[in-house]
Amino acid sequence: MKALILVGGFGTRLRPLTLSFPKPLVDFANKPMILHQIEALKAVGVSEVVLAINYQPEVMLNFLKDFESKLGIKITCSQETEPLGTAGPLALARDKLIDDSGEPFFVLNSDVISEYPLKEMIAFHKSHGGEASILVTKVDEPSKYGVVVMEESTGKVEKFVEKPKLFVGNKINAGIYLLNPSVLDRIELRPTSIEKEVFPKIASEQKLYAMVLPGFWMDIGQPRDYITGLRLYLDSLRKTSPSRLAAGSHIVGNVIVDETAKIGEGCLIGPDVAIGPGCVVESGVRLSRCTVMRGVRVKKHACISSSIIGWHSTVGQWARVENMTILGEDVHVCDEIYSNGGVVLPHKEIKSSILKPEIVM
Ligand code: GDD
Ligand code: MG
Repeated sequence: MKALILVGGFGTRLRPLTLSFPKPLVDFANKPMILHQIEALKAVGVSEVVLAINYQPEVMLNFLKDFESKLGIKITCSQETEPLGTAGPLALARDKLIDDSGEPFFVLNSDVISEYPLKEMIAFHKSHGGEASILVTKVDEPSKYGVVVMEESTGKVEKFVEKPKLFVGNKINAGIYLLNPSVLDRIELRPTSIEKEVFPKIASEQKLYAMVLPGFWMDIGQPRDYITGLRLYLDSLRKTSPSRLAAGSHIVGNVIVDETAKIGEGCLIGPDVAIGPGCVVESGVRLSRCTVMRGVRVKKHACISSSIIGWHSTVGQWARVENMTILGEDVHVCDEIYSNGGVVLPHKEIKSSILKPEIVM
């Protein structure tokens, strides 16, 4: 089986992290977002993943080359010269997606995180005999997603409305599809949206089916959702593989710590924290609801909550970093500084406190 991951877009909502890496390579729970997906695809027998990309393909491919051999999966690129939206890239990659087997293929948005119930999805797709299957999930705020109205008993989709202005329902498109090759005959090679042009058409012909996704789901393309996503991911890990979570008297709730990270004496860490490879957390540090990415140093008695600390940054002694502070790559927060929601661009040094949420350029 094959799969295509939609990797375009500039990831503006996840700046400043995406100023250093394309969104799919931004770490989530100690590994690049896209690896969570590639691993899940590999686990259900996908042999080739096509990355539909519209900028920086070298960065992605160089990075993923290592994983090709480690995971035993082929990773190729299909590069657009202009952004083709969420459907156009499928037409562009047509020859890579179709082979003699006539098997359906997966399509994934690159910024969604879940337990990826792909095996169940394959069984569902076989059972209904339609042309396309999508996963859906319930959310409180459906207007920022694609909303799906479906027949509960069969999953047949009656209506698909992208970002509706008026309330249509609370089940939304989770951004994970399994499509028959015939869907490609519906898509022209031009900028076009699968949500606005393709799915509504297939639904009107009663050939689009939706399966309610078991377990958690989150689009982690925005800082607040990213932090919520980590909580949901760690909750799920607690159920599926609790041995991967950190334990000890200094740990509260769900925490993952890379094995190469060092943690000093007298720290209190958790809940909902990810500490990446090579990090150094000095003594007496307090961390909660945060991600500390690869190579970060958190100095003595610093306190970080509800924040994301980008790669190779430093947080000084007695510093207090909170309320959706997002530090880009290689940011240095001096000792005793307070950051209340500062969004700090890469390579900056913060010498005075940030008292209210603002962007520091
Ligand atoms: N190759 C390529 N080219 N990829 C693109 C392009 C493009 O021109 N534009 C967007 N993408 C990719 C993004 O990188 C992302 O992986 C995916 O397509 C969806 O784009 P987003 O910009 O993240 O869309 P969204 O979050 O507003 O809405 C989509 O996702 C929701 C679930 O998170 C829609 O699919 C909604 O229906 C869905 O509910
Ligand atoms: Mg998105």
